Amino acid sequence: MRAVAATGTVVAVLLAGCGGTKVTQRSERLVRGQTIFASECSGCHTVSGREHGAVGGDLLLTHLDRKDLASFARVMPTTRPLSAAAAAAVASYIASRER
Ligand code: HEC
Repeated sequence: MRAVAATGTVVAVLLAGCGGTKVTQRSERLVRGQTIFASECSGCHTVSGREHGAVGGDLLLTHLDRKDLASFARVMPTTRPLSAAAAAAVASYIASRER
């Protein structure tokens, strides 16, 4: 939960920092991705860059790119299959945590 709260701060900073439409759309996608991660992935995965013993492991340690993250997202045991857009959003969120 702490990791998710920290990301909220990052997204808020991104939103406040630049006013461009593109940036806003990107931020909205990250927020959507974060929400999906919290409800569909966080039961089995963390995104901290350190191993915490989550069933599926920490996703930053995999160093997968967004495309592969999105493919995995669609085959995971989520409550409902993710749409392509939802998978892309959650992949963007995970990738955004890489730096
Ligand atoms: C019910 C548990 C569960 C849920 C929910 C779940 N996963 Fe997984 N996931 C796993 C397990 C178990 C593995 C296999 C881990 C391994 O091989 O070390 C895995 C593997 C992965 C991998 C590949 C990791 C690697 O080491 O190559 C990715 C990426 C991934 N999951 C992303 C997601 C995303 C994104 C979501 C949410 C949309 C999600 N998972 C939801 C259990 C889950």
